[in-house]
Amino acid sequence: MRTPQFSMSIFEERRKKLSPTIKGGALVIAANPEYIRNGDVNYPYRQESNFFYLTGFEEPNSVFVYRPGKKPETVMFVMSKDPAQETWTGFRYGTDGTKANFHIDATYPIEAIRAELPKLLADVDQLFYSLYNDRRFDELILQMVNDLTWSRSRANRGNLPIVDPRALIGELRLRKSSVEVEWHRQACEASGEAHIEVMKAIRPGINERALHGVFVRAIMERGCPREGYHAIVASGENATTLHYNFNDQTCRDGDLLLLDAGGEFNYFSGDITRVFPVNGRFSETQKRIYQKVLNVQKELVAMVKPGVSREGLQRETISKLTDVMIDEKLLKGRKDDLIEKKEYMKFYMHGVSHWLGMDVHDAGTISVNNEPRQIEAGFVLTIEPGLYIPKDSPDVPNELRGIGIRIEDDILVTESGHENLTVKCPKEIADIEAVMRHG
Ligand code: GLY
Ligand code: MN
Ligand code: MN
Repeated sequence: MRTPQFSMSIFEERRKKLSPTIKGGALVIAANPEYIRNGDVNYPYRQESNFFYLTGFEEPNSVFVYRPGKKPETVMFVMSKDPAQETWTGFRYGTDGTKANFHIDATYPIEAIRAELPKLLADVDQLFYSLYNDRRFDELILQMVNDLTWSRSRANRGNLPIVDPRALIGELRLRKSSVEVEWHRQACEASGEAHIEVMKAIRPGINERALHGVFVRAIMERGCPREGYHAIVASGENATTLHYNFNDQTCRDGDLLLLDAGGEFNYFSGDITRVFPVNGRFSETQKRIYQKVLNVQKELVAMVKPGVSREGLQRETISKLTDVMIDEKLLKGRKDDLIEKKEYMKFYMHGVSHWLGMDVHDAGTISVNNEPRQIEAGFVLTIEPGLYIPKDSPDVPNELRGIGIRIEDDILVTESGHENLTVKCPKEIADIEAVMRHG
C-alpha cells in the first residue's frame, strides 16, 4: 500500500492556473512509455514532467485528460489493480485508488481508452496534445480525431485542431510557486553538498566512475531518488568535451576535475558545475585561468534581476570571455572583429544560461512575440560561463592546452534581484582548497 507524498492541492492549483488558456478544449497527456533494456528488465522509470506537474501521478501506462469547465473535468486512465502482477512489479493505485487519492473526477482502466476517450473529445473545440513523444499513442489519438471528423464536418467544422500544449504549460512552469521554490532549494542544496563530498573523495588514481558513485550516494542520502541528468565527471582534457559522460577514466595528479552534476528532489533538478584539482591544490596556471572565469561568472550572477534577458546575459558573457581569451593569448586581434567573426566559439561555444526546473533544460520559451523574454521574479535559471581549450588546439599557449573550466550556479530571480540557490557549494579557490584539505 502506498499513499501520495504530496498534497493534492498543489496539482489542483496548477490545473486551475492552466484552465483559462485551454478552456473549451481538452488536454490529453500520456505517461512516459516504459523502455525495455533487455528481456523483462526496464530502464529506470520517471514520469513525464508535464503529466506529473498536473497530477502528481507516477505510474506508467496511464493517460490524463483535463477539460476545464466540463463534466467530468479530470479523467485518468490507469492500470487496474492486479494482485498477481503487483507481486512482480509492485503496488498500483488502480481506478478507485487513483480517483480517491489523486482527486480525479472519473477513472477508467487503461484498456477502456478506445471506448471512452472519443466521448471526452466529442464536445471540445481543440485538442491539446504533444505529438511525437509516443508514436503508438499518437496513432490512437489520430485515429480518434479522424473518427470525429465525420460528426464535426456535418457542421462544417473540419478536423479537431491539435495544439501542442508545451509552451502553455511552460509559461506556468517558468514561474515557481513558494512550494516549488522550496523543493528546488532542496534539490540545489543536496546537489551542492554532494559536490563537496566529491571534493573530499577525489585523489590521484581514483576513477571518474567512483566519483560519480560518491555523488549519487550523497544526493540519495539527502532524499533525491535520482539525478536530474547523467553527471559529467570529466578529469583532465575530458573537461573540454561539453557533455562528456563516459565517466570512466583515471584521475591524474596535476589535472583538474570538472563535475557537472545535479540531484532531483520532488521532480526539481539542481545543475551545478565545479572545477577542482585532483590533488587538492590548483597550480599557478590553473589558478590564474580559473580565477578569470570565476570573475566573469560572478559578474554575470550579479546582473540577474527582473527585466534582463538571457540574450543580454549571453552578449555580456561573450564580451567578457573574449577579453579573457585576448588576455590569455588564445585569440589575437581586435575584440570587435573577434566577436563579429565568432572567433570566441573556438573556446566558448554554448549558452550561458537555461531555465531550470523539473527538467534540467526546463520548459518555457526564451522569446515572447519574437522579442527576447525578460526574466521575472520566480524564474530559476543557470549561470554557467566556460572556457574549453582542446589539447590539440593550434596556436595556443602550451600551459593552457587540455584545460576545461565551467562554473555553474542556479539562480532564483526575486523581486529585488536574485538569490543564488547553490551559494553554499564552494567556488572560490581558497574555499575549495580548504574543503579538500580538511575533507
Ligand atoms: N548539465 C547540463 C547543463 O549544464 O546544461
Ligand atoms: Mn546547466
Ligand atoms: Mn550543468
